[in-house]
Amino acid sequence: MERLKGKYVLLTGGANGMGENHARRLIAEGASVMFTDLNAVAGEALAEELGDQAVFAQQDVSSEQDWERVVTLMVETFGGIDVLINNAGIHSFGSLEEENVERLRKILDVNVAGTWLGIQKVAPIMRADGGGSIINLSSMAGYVGMPFYSVYSSSKWAVRGITKCAASELGPSNIRVNAILPGAIDQTGMFNSAEAEAAMERLNNSTPLSRVGEREEVSSLVVFLASDESGFMTGTDQLIDGGNNLS
Ligand SMILES: NC(=O)c1ccc[n+]([C@@H]2O[C@H](COP(=O)([O-])OP(=O)(O)OC[C@H]3O[C@@H](n4cnc5c(N)ncnc54)[C@H](O)[C@@H]3O)[C@@H](O)[C@H]2O)c1
Repeated sequence: MERLKGKYVLLTGGANGMGENHARRLIAEGASVMFTDLNAVAGEALAEELGDQAVFAQQDVSSEQDWERVVTLMVETFGGIDVLINNAGIHSFGSLEEENVERLRKILDVNVAGTWLGIQKVAPIMRADGGGSIINLSSMAGYVGMPFYSVYSSSKWAVRGITKCAASELGPSNIRVNAILPGAIDQTGMFNSAEAEAAMERLNNSTPLSRVGEREEVSSLVVFLASDESGFMTGTDQLIDGGNNLS
């Protein structure tokens, strides 16, 4: 079923992990997708595999100049933007003593400023076209407090705050803004250190559904929020964590 037929989607961090899966699903649902990433090698290879409905552009989401270039390219290529998915993000895991303020500033720059800039640059285009849907990737770490996540959590709580403020401000322009809060998701780059893997194991054991999530499950939520099926939803937190926030 082509639930996104005729939609033009801008997706950040689309070369790997969940973003790569979202790009595949969005295309399967009929969307035309420009996906961006820092990693040009992986991005170009994926674009070639995905074919005519996909365009890749290199982008650092923390750069305002890059956002302006990508939004201009999106409008030149497709004529507008129906959906923005702020997916690019970086992770950090460490005790308060092990972390440092440079790491905190870097995470805030990519995860928070990257999301905020995307909304700021895309909203005028959507408003001129009569509306749109913006989806921001927060995290379960932006919903509860956990040990060793003070840096990452700070950024993901901020993403939820931006989502709610933007939803209030942009609602009258028919622009919906929602946040997705995944728990631990398999086949992603977020759990590539030994410490993080151990933490994921603990998370799995304490999750009511007793497993990690699949990328496809998060992509299904992305498709729903991108589509007109979610037309009366804005400012929401969509937890997709196997119930882990309950433990
Ligand atoms: N993996 C999880 O279990 C999990 C859980 C909760 C939330 N999230 C969030 O979901 C999103 C995707 O996570 P993932 O695990 O698939 O990540 P990933 O590390 O597998 O992929 C992230 C992608 O973003 C790109 N990227 C990193 N910095 C960038 C920048 N400055 N500009 C542009 N692109 C950049 C990377 O090159 C990579 O392709 C992130 O926002 C993450 O915080 C992930």
